[in-house]
Amino acid sequence: MIETQSVNNAKSETNINWAIIAPGNIAKKFATALQGVNGATLYSVASRDVNRAQAFANQYGFETVATDYDALIAEPKVDVIYIASPHTFHTQQSIACLTAAKPVLCEKPMSINAKQAKSVFAAAKTNNTFYMEAVWTRFMPMLAKVREIIDSGRIGDIQTAQASFGIDVPFSLQHRLYDPKLAGGALLDVGIYTITFAQWLMQTPPQQITAAAQLGTTGVDERTAVILRYPEGQLLTLNSSINSKSNHEAWIFGSKGRIKMSAFWQCQEIALQLDGEHETIKIPHRINGYEGEIEEVNRCLRAGKIESDVFPWSDSLTVMEIMDEARRQIGLRYAGQD
Ligand SMILES: NC(=O)c1ccc[n+]([C@@H]2O[C@H](COP(=O)([O-])OP(=O)(O)OC[C@H]3O[C@@H](n4cnc5c(N)ncnc54)[C@H](OP(=O)(O)O)[C@@H]3O)[C@@H](O)[C@H]2O)c1
Repeated sequence: MIETQSVNNAKSETNINWAIIAPGNIAKKFATALQGVNGATLYSVASRDVNRAQAFANQYGFETVATDYDALIAEPKVDVIYIASPHTFHTQQSIACLTAAKPVLCEKPMSINAKQAKSVFAAAKTNNTFYMEAVWTRFMPMLAKVREIIDSGRIGDIQTAQASFGIDVPFSLQHRLYDPKLAGGALLDVGIYTITFAQWLMQTPPQQITAAAQLGTTGVDERTAVILRYPEGQLLTLNSSINSKSNHEAWIFGSKGRIKMSAFWQCQEIALQLDGEHETIKIPHRINGYEGEIEEVNRCLRAGKIESDVFPWSDSLTVMEIMDEARRQIGLRYAGQD
């Protein structure tokens, strides 16, 4: 007799009922994408304030609201929960959902450190329930194009690469980015995209990690630079900032040519530069760029998977481990989180 294992998120023909925890800034963009994804129902929303949940549900057309986060997690009709709260809540909220066998798509960073990340994966495994970190970058169709160019050998062997993600957010003690209690700072918020880019590009952990930062008055890193060295000597330089805007580009430098990726974390345009040949390639978002991660979750749930092959847990973990080491070197600790 063949034994079949039941997966808690298995879902076949019907629409998938999506729910959101913490309807803030990013949840708005996510809900806009949800509206345009086939097979996704905007089902429910939970906020710490039920009136805020109701206003959000009305604005985006969710079928219902939950009285609070716990009620949302307990709602049998909810098929998958998108967690869009600030960083410090991700681990606990993900584990609460997974323990109730609710599949999770959780905003980046999935946790504050690698130890917490492992506890989330353990909860997903124990409860046989889907989990993925919501790094939309990984689902940009342009990444497949860039990979195809690299694999074709047109730019030769990768020797160095760089990525820069700087935003300029006016200083405020009230803003989560400057608040150490919410695990603010450049590295965990925008630097994570540069490190995700590195992990995607190199597909292996670095051999050497070197980091420097400028910590601000609240103690979070306002600027961080990370250099990663890989086994064959490739060097990646990665910059992030929350108080100065950068060019938002990633460059991949090979022995025979270069690729420039504009707004690399949501890349819709690249420039391929070979000797005597320049080519621009554009692949616009179908909705607003968040559709790819939603469609991947839907695909995984329908296939009864607990982990995405496109963005596996091991990549999220490597990124967390690199950020742990970078934080160790720059002396950035979040109280009660290490
Ligand atoms: N993928 C992307 O492109 C992208 C872009 C921006 C941000 N993000 C990520 O998305 C997450 C949320 O960022 P955001 O800019 O949307 O944040 P936000 O608007 O400041 O907060 C999101 C929600 O979290 C809850 N919340 C806020 N402060 C809280 C606190 N002190 N204690 C408990 N709950 C709190 C609130 O929901 P309630 O209504 O429940 O109170 C709030 O609406 C972060 O992890 C961030 O890194 C991702």
